[in-house]
Amino acid sequence: MTTKRIGILTGGGDCPGLNAVIRALVRRAIDFENYEMLGIRYGWRGLLDGDTIPLTRDMMRGILHRGGTILGTSRTNLYKDATTEKKAKATLSKLGLHAIVAIGGEDTLGVAKRLTDDGYRIVGVPKTIDNDLKGTDATFGFDTAVQIATEALDRLHTTAESHDRVLVCEVMGRHSGWIATYAGIAGGADAILVPEYPINLDDICDIIRRRHDMGIRFSIICVAEGAKLKGGDEVLSSERRDEFGHVTLGGIGEVLAKQIEQKTGYSTRVTVLGHIQRGGTPTAYDRVLATRYGVAAMNAIHANRFGVMVALKGNDIVEVPLAQVAGGTRTIDPELYQVAKIFWG
Ligand code: F6P
Repeated sequence: MTTKRIGILTGGGDCPGLNAVIRALVRRAIDFENYEMLGIRYGWRGLLDGDTIPLTRDMMRGILHRGGTILGTSRTNLYKDATTEKKAKATLSKLGLHAIVAIGGEDTLGVAKRLTDDGYRIVGVPKTIDNDLKGTDATFGFDTAVQIATEALDRLHTTAESHDRVLVCEVMGRHSGWIATYAGIAGGADAILVPEYPINLDDICDIIRRRHDMGIRFSIICVAEGAKLKGGDEVLSSERRDEFGHVTLGGIGEVLAKQIEQKTGYSTRVTVLGHIQRGGTPTAYDRVLATRYGVAAMNAIHANRFGVMVALKGNDIVEVPLAQVAGGTRTIDPELYQVAKIFWG
């Protein structure tokens, strides 16, 4: 039996559960006997630098619960210009890979889709704390981020209450409000601002004032980094664009806190959770989902099914064409947003 070499890479922002996927791929491959697993380091950049590392069963010990990625990651776009594309393809032929498992979000899987179109065998695994990937009901990492943000909101409640303050908590999520909505519901936020549904500053201030009038002299506002006020723009922490053309979001919390304090006269503070939401150990849910994805991706390879991403539909792991995934984000469920709104104020 000839040995087939499989490349594994993790691309984009890191995310709790990446190591669980890598472990599942390597462990499942052992069941099939004729695979050699090769880690491609720092996402697609590993194909430009020829930076790879053999992945053995021994290396998988003790990584299930570890955050980050043992392979490293980057936001590298192999298709950013002809020279980059040529260099990557030269490495691909040198490595003699039978297939690649690309673990990533919209950008990493966008490259995977293009490589598929160019005749390479690729299987995608959906990763992002933002939960905004099309083609799947859930990405791993999201549950952990929500857990962290919810704990933060719980903690902000007690200090807000002690000081009669408004506390604004800015969470990640890029152009979608999944983290803000889930954490906002779980953490009992008095208003949740998401990119999908811009709201007026006056409406937020009214909610806060009404609470004060009822004798509840503190409020918790959960705001997604990509949220904007009605008629306003997204707030950027940097205009510099990455290789996929993304600017860096951040700062809406600060803007909002200032305006709330000005309009209501109530003492207001802001907390930006930032990369704390991406770091550290994955929840049990994310470990299980990541493990199921890893096993399913290796099963797809063994069954010669390529150009697909493993995905969650209901409670089942399925495969969807990579073509369905690339381009555009999955916005929040309008029904969920309506549920969240019931508890505002
Ligand atoms: O996509 C994941 C994410 O954490 C977003 O929520 C956030 O906007 C972005 O990555 C931050 O990117 P970086 O790690 O480059 O600061």
